[in-house]
Amino acid sequence: MSQPIARAVQTGDLAPDGVLPDGSRLSALRGQPVILAFAPDEWDPTLAYQSEIFARLSREFGSGAAFVDTAAEDWHALDCRGALAAQFGVAGQRALFLLDEYGVVRWKTVVPPGQDLRPGQVLAALEALNSPPAAPSSGGVFGGGLSRRTFVTATLAAAALLLLPGCGDGGGSSDQDSPEAEAAASGTDNIPVTLNINGKTHRLQLDPRVALLDALRENLHLTGTKKGCDHGQCGACTVHLDGQSTLACLTLAVMSQGKEITTIEGLSTGEALHPMQAAFLKHDAFQCGYCTPGQIMAATALVQDKNVRAGSAVDIREAMSGNLCRCAAYPNIIAAIQEVQRA
Ligand code: FES
Ligand code: FES
Repeated sequence: MSQPIARAVQTGDLAPDGVLPDGSRLSALRGQPVILAFAPDEWDPTLAYQSEIFARLSREFGSGAAFVDTAAEDWHALDCRGALAAQFGVAGQRALFLLDEYGVVRWKTVVPPGQDLRPGQVLAALEALNSPPAAPSSGGVFGGGLSRRTFVTATLAAAALLLLPGCGDGGGSSDQDSPEAEAAASGTDNIPVTLNINGKTHRLQLDPRVALLDALRENLHLTGTKKGCDHGQCGACTVHLDGQSTLACLTLAVMSQGKEITTIEGLSTGEALHPMQAAFLKHDAFQCGYCTPGQIMAATALVQDKNVRAGSAVDIREAMSGNLCRCAAYPNIIAAIQEVQRA
């Protein structure tokens, strides 16, 4: 049965007081800016290909922009097929609304089915939002000046919104299913990149600024390599480049061409575990396991490197000091490495 089509909420309107996914009412969020993103279920603002777009937008804005925590309390990703989308008059469409602390819509953008936003339009609208605060309007609502944080969050949301699959058609075009298409969709500056990973050749279209870690995880779905700090400080992303321990988060994918890249997925042969993997199991050298792929990759490179002297526990600690373990499984990790060394 067809439902009446709600009038789309416009800029300047008081937002309808709908119910959020957690059961609370939208009006309960008054007093802070609120960003409402109507998106398909598969929305994930942490995906790197979306982050790449954000990084590009950040550069256009200059150095003032910074990455924001999209899990912030003023962020709400909503199913575009849900009741709230209908209340806002955007059922089945990708849409973004910014509400000010009074619950008034300060900015909105809607992507009709089958169409895409142009980044320039989004940038212009978001820049306009960043104007200094104005006097309250006759309705008692301030006319400008969202906080920088909200502005940047909105920028990220809008950037990611550009890449969301279609909402009303059940999930977007099939073109977005392939990693190559995802990469191509992330911008116009992509270049062909050929990576040799675990003995296989992969041909991708990548932004030259994409880190090897993101290419592995987001484009090739080799998620065994973990993203911890993303700043070269934890070692979770350790892979081998030509047998050398390398931090994939600090290595550009384009610079990894022509090298033999080995990830944790390529360490073992067939069903047989690599001796280091077996030793980690035997010595119970992990708890949550998040750091484990990086620890194992660093440890295998260490054991294979004839130039590194790492016999004693002290030497191993020193050599492995770039790989952090928040569960503090260090004694067991060292025992595993020593066993492999002895073998
Ligand atoms: Fe690369 Fe932490 S994710 S060092
Ligand atoms: Fe949990 Fe190392 S096992 S971080």
